[in-house]
This record gives sequence, C-alpha cells and structure tokens, in this order.
Amino acid sequence: MSQRPRDLSKLRLETRLVLAGRDSARSEGAVNPAVHRATTLLIADTDDLYNTPKSTYALDGMAVQQALREAVAAIEGGVDAALTPSGLAACTLALTTVARAGGERLVTDALYAPTRRFCDTTLRRLGVRTRYFDPRLGAAIAELMTPDTCGVFLESPGSLTFEVQDVPAIAAAARARNLPVLLDNTWSAGIFFQPFEHGVDVSIQALTKYQGGHADVFMGAVVSANEHWAQRVLATCKQIGMSAAPDDAYLVLRGMRTLGLRLERQSASALQIAHWLESRAEVAEVICPALPSHPDHAIWARDFSGCSGVFGCVLNAVDPARFKAMLEGYAIFAMGFSWGGYESLIVPTDDNIRRASAPQARPGPLLRLSIGLEHADDLIADLEAGFARLTP
Ligand SMILES: Cc1ncc(COP(=O)(O)O)c(C=O)c1O
Repeated sequence: MSQRPRDLSKLRLETRLVLAGRDSARSEGAVNPAVHRATTLLIADTDDLYNTPKSTYALDGMAVQQALREAVAAIEGGVDAALTPSGLAACTLALTTVARAGGERLVTDALYAPTRRFCDTTLRRLGVRTRYFDPRLGAAIAELMTPDTCGVFLESPGSLTFEVQDVPAIAAAARARNLPVLLDNTWSAGIFFQPFEHGVDVSIQALTKYQGGHADVFMGAVVSANEHWAQRVLATCKQIGMSAAPDDAYLVLRGMRTLGLRLERQSASALQIAHWLESRAEVAEVICPALPSHPDHAIWARDFSGCSGVFGCVLNAVDPARFKAMLEGYAIFAMGFSWGGYESLIVPTDDNIRRASAPQARPGPLLRLSIGLEHADDLIADLEAGFARLTP
C-alpha cells in the first residue's frame, strides 16, 4: 500500500471507496485494519506520559477508527472526520461546536426531528436560540442574519418532505458574515453532493444509513472542510467524551467498500419505482428530487450527481382501515424507522413531521420509501398488491 497514491482526490469515486483509509502500517500487512478492543494503552517511557503527541488513551481511537476517519473524510473531500456513536450524535456534536450562549442559530425547518429536539431542549436550556427558516429561502436567508447569529444548519433534501436547499446561495450569504455553514448530508451519503465544493464548512453523515448499509450498526461522522473546523470539532468531541466503538467502526468501514455498488443499484431501483408510482391513480405526488415534477429539481440537477434510494410519496385520500391493511400486508417492504439499508422499508410519516411553519395540506397520507437491493420488479409488484388492498 505504501506504493499506492496518497492523494485520492484525482481518483474516481469507486476507486476512492476501495483505497480510502487503507494503510499497510496500520493493518500489519492485512487488507483491513486491526480491531483493537482497548481502553488502556501501556506506556513504557515516562516522557510519553504527558504533553506528548502520541496517543495515551484509546478513547481517541485506534487503527480502525483512524482508518474510518480517513475514509469518510476522503469521500467528501474534507480534511478530517470526528466519529460519533450515532448519526444524531454527529448532528448534536456539530451544533454544540458552533453554539454560543446568547447566540441564535438559523436552522432549516425541514429537519430530522431528533435534531430539532436537541435544539429545542438542551441548546435552549444552555441559552442558545434557534430560528427555523423555510428550506426554500435561498439567498434571502441573509435578511435573517443578525449580530447574534452563530451559524447556519442545513439538511438537504429535508427529512420526510425532501426540499432541496440552495446550498451555494445560503453559504455565500453566510460567508459574507463569517458564519459557519453546517449540513446534514446523509441523504447523499457524501457521494451525490460534495459539500465543500458548495461552500459548506462542516458536513454531517449518519453512517448508520448507507455507509453501514446493513441495518446493524449506529455511527455518525462530522467532516470538516479545513483544519480550523477540524480542530474545533475534534476538540469538542473530546471534551464531550464521544467516541466510536472499534467493532462498529470496522462494520462501517466494511460497508463503505461496497457503498458505490449498493447506491448505484438502490438509486436505479428508486427511480424506476418513483416513476411507476407517478403513474398510479392512488398517488397524488411523488416527492423525489430526481423527478422533473419535484419543485426543486433544477437545484438538485445543478448540485447533485445522483439520487439516493429514499423518497416520499403522497397518496390520495384513503380509508384508514384499508390504509392499515395496505401497510401491514406487504410481502417485501416492511415498516421501520431507519433507511439506507439493503432492505426496503416503507413508513407513514405524517405523525413524525415537526415544523415551525403552517402544516402543508395533503390529500392523503405521506409515506417514506427506502429502496433496498431487492429486484425493482418485485418491489413494484409488492406495492401494486398493496394498492389493491386500498380498494373495496
Ligand atoms: C437525516 C438524518 N440525519 C441523522 C439521522 C440520525 O442517525 P442515527 O439513526 O444514526 O442517529 C437520521 C436518522 O434517521 C436522519 O434521517
């Protein structure tokens, strides 16, 4: 491996996913890094006890965490990544890093609900205010910025309602006032949207989703565009005492090696299914940024290189009992609250939507679909049988 190129930025994504974080020195000749289940590091030299650049405690991470940090950072083009025990912890770490008592954060209203809960509880208690803004505000966000503003938090596309934000316009407004821009970039898996090319300072990945990919591991990462933010994020992470378990880091790194292939398949199937759903009488709207019918399609086409396998679907009015029968009778789809795994999921989401703005009117229930690795034709047949359960 030492003969291999260290700068991966010129290589294509598939190659980067295979090479990122690999270092023969760390793996003792094996392809993959060693997994150390360690707390205590034994130190032979008294000079290495204090004020040393060497690691003295395994909470800072060992070979496998180091490899994963490098891999995650390399895929998004960041300088470093802090690992967290869940994706939500990555969101809260990023928010805590930029929090300032008496300050106000501008946060997209189309936000992952537990991230919102953190803003509205813990941060509020610590004297940090949150002002939610319309995800489609774009450059007009400048009008909301005051001397109290201490950062902008984006999530694009937004959870459950999939609004695509004009990140370059928002980032330009923030940069003019020297404000950091944080982005929950989980939907794109760090693959389809390159945050640092669009002015983002700190990118958040719930590695639990596509990188883990197998519904068996929680983890998150906060990736920084430059050394300034990397140092601040890592320092905050250490102050809080967050770390990622070695076996979990191994699983996520292993998942990342096949991420490109899985996403390619999941994306293609999702598009096929989204198009099919658009043709159905039971469906009022398919909310997928890759469809020309999506209100933000132009922004998505400008800024994203692809579409992941998660999207929304609004049904026409349904009888509640029949809707329940539709959801509970699937042979392949199952209901569950995560996404990005190899298995297809479907879940009604109306009850999970929290917004500061007035609720959007919809003719029927809103669903979130996460398309897995099953054959798209089988998934369509499953959905079609579900629609049959809606009609008497
Ligand atoms: C957009 C987004 N960010 C963050 C998270 C949190 O990830 P985790 O489940 O690993 O805490 C989720 C989980 O669903 C999510 O959808």
